[in-house]
Amino acid sequence: MTIPDLILERRSIRRFLDRRVPRDALDDLIAAACLAPAPHHSTPWRFVVIDTAEAKRGLAEAMAARWERDLEGDGTDADTIGELTNASVARLEAAPALILGCTTHVGLDTYPDERRQSAEEGMALLSLGAAVQNLMLAATDAGLASCWVAAPIFCPDEARGTLTLADSWTPRALVMIGHPDPTYTPHDRGDLDVEGIRTHR
Ligand SMILES: Cc1cc2nc3c(=O)[nH]c(=O)nc-3n(C[C@H](O)[C@H](O)[C@H](O)COP(=O)(O)O)c2cc1C
Repeated sequence: MTIPDLILERRSIRRFLDRRVPRDALDDLIAAACLAPAPHHSTPWRFVVIDTAEAKRGLAEAMAARWERDLEGDGTDADTIGELTNASVARLEAAPALILGCTTHVGLDTYPDERRQSAEEGMALLSLGAAVQNLMLAATDAGLASCWVAAPIFCPDEARGTLTLADSWTPRALVMIGHPDPTYTPHDRGDLDVEGIRTHR
């Protein structure tokens, strides 16, 4: 596939066949992620492959517990909280593999002021986004389905703790990976409105 075709073909697929993805294939996706542009020639991302039932459940339940507390704080009713968090755990458990993208400060500059420090950390996060896109495009090219899951960015401490990651790894982006369930239809993208989202100067 050409790059424009791959970009079009990549869709968020949220249901997978019950079929293992070989670890070599997952490593190939991470190798593609590592070709992303990064500030100062650094590698401000780290990746965790989570493909055992125990590790998937542990991560899903730790993040769901945090979400439950957040929803309780929002005043959401208990039934809705139960439905949302149970569905979230079930969905992550059903994915054959999860790849967690983390940022790290290694190789980045350190500033004494909050403005520049937060810009520096923003650069790492932007670079991780580019890496995750590479990873998902490589998955598409390999005939694998993927879907980005936001959860860890809301609860990095819980994700880090349950996976026993180093303090320097900050969990940010989770990607579900597997062989696509052919009965799943991606959401309608609607018409692309370039006019509405860009301006000229
Ligand atoms: C930062 C980010 C977080 C996302 N989080 C979720 C998520 O938590 N759950 C989910 O089902 N999809 C999630 N998505 C996928 C988007 O819903 C999806 O990319 C968007 O609807 C466009 O559809 P497409 O990827 O099929 O083109 C996320 C995407 C991004 C970039």
